[in-house]
Amino acid sequence: MTVTDIRSLFDLPRDHAYLNCAYMGPMPRAAAEAGKAAYDRRMRPWEAGIQDPFFDQPEALRAEAAPLFGAAADDIALIPAASYGLAMAAQNLALEPGQDILTLAGQFPSNVYIWREKAARSGARIKTVRRSANQNWTEAVLGAIGPQTAIAALPETHWADGGRLDLAVISDRLRAQGGRLVLDLTQSLGTSRFDLSSIRPDFAVAAGYKWLLGPYTLGYAYIAPEQQGGRPLEEGWIVREGAEDFARLVDYAEHYQAGARRFDMGERSGFQLVPAALESLKWLNAFGPEALAAALLERTQALEEAVRALGVICDTPDRAAHYLCLALPSGAPGGMAQQLARHGVSVSQRGERLRVTPHLYTDEADIARFANAMKAALA
Ligand SMILES: Cc1ncc(COP(=O)(O)O)c(C=O)c1O
Repeated sequence: MTVTDIRSLFDLPRDHAYLNCAYMGPMPRAAAEAGKAAYDRRMRPWEAGIQDPFFDQPEALRAEAAPLFGAAADDIALIPAASYGLAMAAQNLALEPGQDILTLAGQFPSNVYIWREKAARSGARIKTVRRSANQNWTEAVLGAIGPQTAIAALPETHWADGGRLDLAVISDRLRAQGGRLVLDLTQSLGTSRFDLSSIRPDFAVAAGYKWLLGPYTLGYAYIAPEQQGGRPLEEGWIVREGAEDFARLVDYAEHYQAGARRFDMGERSGFQLVPAALESLKWLNAFGPEALAAALLERTQALEEAVRALGVICDTPDRAAHYLCLALPSGAPGGMAQQLARHGVSVSQRGERLRVTPHLYTDEADIARFANAMKAALA
């Protein structure tokens, strides 16, 4: 499929370069259409039946989310937000006074506040890993893991500098010390292969509205089989055995449905959201992680190259293939993201860096527009 073909699957105007997938992925037309059709069906509830919207659609979505994690459908829970999945992890992992929870400096708050709260309740400490300018995040994390590390709550890609973490190496070191691994994959899942068998997280979560190109308020959690006997945040009716029989719901069931389903959020059947998310994930899975990773690397390299002569470079050691965070030259004006927006270019500013995050629809014209807008903004 050519980039032109891919672009036509999205509603992307020719006079705008959307380079902000890390902020919010645009939904493919097919996903938006599925969502609209789902709203139409909500006008006639008597036509929809029970089995398909309540059970079959969410099962189809679970099955489509599973390969992104390299997991089985049974290991996936449907959640509204990364913070929800991280709260579920925090609730289920043991923590003793004096032990450490590792997080990164500048980590996204959904993967920080819950651990602060847990640390305060348990008499444990948050250990914030910092990296020096030439150090990559993997080296910095390896240097911080010790016998006192109970939990490492990490991303795979740092959301503000684009640095990559070699999670397989980190996991080996952590497990040798008896630590548990919790991952927020919101800024990486769906952009490359997630090597589950090497990384072996206890919990891994991702919001679905960025790189997964789905609707807001629907995300995914992988729960390792050994954690699947844990306590969900809610005690919803639909995750109990026998929930399919609506006439007998008050024959209260003792057991949960199999696998990770007990961790599904309340109203996980999300009639309007699930059909849309399903289309987005099908589209991503049809490409496959290797093709996606190669295409995204090509895009970020081209974007990086296009502004190098302006003195704008990525100074993050070991940056993620899909994620470009650019350090601006000294003397660059403030409000660069707003300036670029005036030239029809969407990017984000996070801290001192300009975050430029393309997807498969990004073409040469977008890259040229970005380079021209940067030149104008820095002139
Ligand atoms: C790394 C990361 N995690 C999570 C989120 C979203 O968190 P939540 O789903 O809890 O709103 C974002 C949004 O920018 C993010 O960058």
